[in-house]
Amino acid sequence: MENENNRSFKVATVNDLKTNCFSCEVDGWSILILRHSDGSLTAIEDRCSHADVPLSDGEFDPKLGKITCPAHGAEFCTREGTALCMPAVAPVKIFSVKIIGDEIWIAIP
Ligand code: FES
Repeated sequence: MENENNRSFKVATVNDLKTNCFSCEVDGWSILILRHSDGSLTAIEDRCSHADVPLSDGEFDPKLGKITCPAHGAEFCTREGTALCMPAVAPVKIFSVKIIGDEIWIAIP
């Protein structure tokens, strides 16, 4: 559902997050919502910047805030999107997340 004012999309409810990772499609983007160990949520593009591999198939560490690509082992900061090690050098896209009531909203630029 789109909020007409700011291109924000309701993607899930808090209760939909049965695990620390939740994949969704929003306005043509594959997005991975991640719940960190402090309870905060971030959203990243579900695509490694090294090649077109879904990061949702990788390993997410909610304590360290990083995700490891399953293909070649690149790691990304799940708060900033920065590549933490080779072979990835480019960041992954980060999306703004808001919780309104029990609804999770993602802002698409
Ligand atoms: S596709 Fe992710 S590290 Fe190569």
